[in-house]
Amino acid sequence: MTMSSEVALSGDLLLLGAGKMGGAMLHGWLDRGIPPARIIALDPSPPAEIAHTIARHGIRHNPALADMERVEALVLAIKPQNFDDVLPALAALKSHRPLVLSIAAGRTMAGIERHFGEDAAIIRAMPNVPAAIGRGITAMVANPNVSASQLGLAQFLLQAVGEVVRVEDEGLMDAVTAVSGSGPAYVFYLAECLAEAGIAAGLPEDLAIKLARATVSGAGELMQTSGRPAAELREMVTSPKGTTYEALAVLMAEGGLKTLLAKAVAAAARRSRELAR
Ligand SMILES: NC(=O)c1ccc[n+]([C@@H]2O[C@H](COP(=O)([O-])OP(=O)(O)OC[C@H]3O[C@@H](n4cnc5c(N)ncnc54)[C@H](OP(=O)(O)O)[C@@H]3O)[C@@H](O)[C@H]2O)c1
Repeated sequence: MTMSSEVALSGDLLLLGAGKMGGAMLHGWLDRGIPPARIIALDPSPPAEIAHTIARHGIRHNPALADMERVEALVLAIKPQNFDDVLPALAALKSHRPLVLSIAAGRTMAGIERHFGEDAAIIRAMPNVPAAIGRGITAMVANPNVSASQLGLAQFLLQAVGEVVRVEDEGLMDAVTAVSGSGPAYVFYLAECLAEAGIAAGLPEDLAIKLARATVSGAGELMQTSGRPAAELREMVTSPKGTTYEALAVLMAEGGLKTLLAKAVAAAARRSRELAR
């Protein structure tokens, strides 16, 4: 069965964990034409909206492993802390020689290999929360057992929730986590701070929040659709000695936003290394 010019799925697609991220992927797969009959969802209690999708499309839900014919790809979308409880049972699927695609934060290639074997084809990926609206970005790293067609399949499955970039060195995943994985929270915080600053400057609370939200999302959208570098867009709206210029002089001063973000990203990357297993 051909889903795009490059990707063909001949076995089943098993989704373990149909929560926020697994559910977003499931919706993306259905939108991109993966036949529901090819999908199996394992999750004892998915959120109501996802349970509804599973039921409406007649997706196989929680069948016994023994009833699965050939699992071509196994997508691990449960919480990392559940891995060691849940994966030993799934190791029985090793005989299907599936592609194992994990999106769990902090679960290393070596940690996944401990469950599925060193000869398993494994991809470790880190998506981010705008995946919920198909606008995420996912970085992925593959072990040497992953074939070109499996790589294409993983890319197809992940592109269902946004852009995909490949990194060669797993060591970069901590920095990826710190920049794009945790990054949306930094941007939400920016919107909070901007609203509070607006209130301090005299705006009514509702208006300050509305202006800050629309400014952050609109600027992000402009950056995305224009394709122009952030610095160029910034310069475009900064006239010499104007209002933006004055504000940026504060943000760009020594010890300003650049220093703070560098510290924040370093702290997140350090934590990611500490949690990795
Ligand atoms: N959300 C993000 O922005 C994001 C970003 C990057 C990576 N990730 C990764 O994506 C994974 C899922 O995160 P999430 O935010 O989607 O979490 P989530 O909403 O809690 O989804 C996990 C789902 O797995 C279910 N589950 C629990 N035990 C299970 C079992 N034994 N078998 C099958 N399913 C089981 C959970 O059910 P219960 O709720 O009943 O426990 C839940 O529905 C995590 O590993 C996380 O690190 C998430």
